[in-house]
Amino acid sequence: MPKVLLTLPLPQPAPQWLGDAAEVSVIGHIPSEPELATAVAEGVDVLCAQLRDPVTSRVLEAGKGRLRAVSLYAVGYNNVDMVAATSRGVIVTNTPGVLTDATADCAMGLLLACARRIVEGNTVMHTGHFEGWEPDYMLGLELKGATLGIIGMGRIGQAVARRARAFGMNIVYAGAKKELPPDLADARPLPLEELLAASDVVSLHVPLAEDTYHMINARTLALMKRNAILVNTSRGPVVDEEDLVTALRENIIGGAGLDVYESEPRPAPGLIECENAVLTPHLGSATTQTRRAMAELCARNALAALAGELPKNTLNPRAWKKTPPPLIKPFPF
Ligand code: GLV
Ligand code: GLV
Repeated sequence: MPKVLLTLPLPQPAPQWLGDAAEVSVIGHIPSEPELATAVAEGVDVLCAQLRDPVTSRVLEAGKGRLRAVSLYAVGYNNVDMVAATSRGVIVTNTPGVLTDATADCAMGLLLACARRIVEGNTVMHTGHFEGWEPDYMLGLELKGATLGIIGMGRIGQAVARRARAFGMNIVYAGAKKELPPDLADARPLPLEELLAASDVVSLHVPLAEDTYHMINARTLALMKRNAILVNTSRGPVVDEEDLVTALRENIIGGAGLDVYESEPRPAPGLIECENAVLTPHLGSATTQTRRAMAELCARNALAALAGELPKNTLNPRAWKKTPPPLIKPFPF
């Protein structure tokens, strides 16, 4: 029987589908690199990995001769050494599409919370500091007519644009890989620096890669408006978090809504003391429906690979120079 290794359990029915076709083992926690390499070396055809698993060249090497696919339970794949995977003939798949709306909702929630000071206001109430309505008390940013700058106009960026437009925001963007669908024709492309200068809110939706690492730093933060809000639901290291703490402290920007951090789970020193930061613990895709859909896609990708079919969500199709033999019958999709 083919072997599938999961680092953490997935929501049903995905484990059941996998269990019907293969021998499934579960590590049960996020493994260290040596631990994962040892587990893979025991003979694994497909590794179903989480976004915190170190899928390094050493781990891929441990799968030598047998490991044919890494099926990620995530859309971001910065934790996988893609060059090593491709050179070792291991395909890598992810779960795009199914978490788009949940992540866009999360970005919109952070945007609203920052713009209208909802978390700050909540603290005022819970600590008994509300002294009564006043004309200029806790004023925030009006979304109607404000400009939202979206960096990374892929699926999630576009879903955020649609939501923000319903609030009357003007949309500018940078980093679209393809032409936008006709319903987003009113969104305006801008070079990154112009976008930063023009936006009241900047929301990040780029993958973490060499060219996006620390793309928001002291220099780019200084280009933003003094009352601008930064929203990040992509990956922490896209932002230089130390520079962001300085910018928040010194009011170089107005506020930040963050769901991801540079070294999760710990935010950079000083960040939690910043009252103008709204912080959530990497909840972008955290809805029951989305996690289930991600698990289903992760399992489907794994089963396709076991059946010797190139999964639809393969990030590096070139890795399979020669299609490996089927180990199971195709899954009835
Ligand atoms: C979540 O951060 C993901 O990449 O799926
Ligand atoms: C990820 O799913 C994206 O394209 O934004």
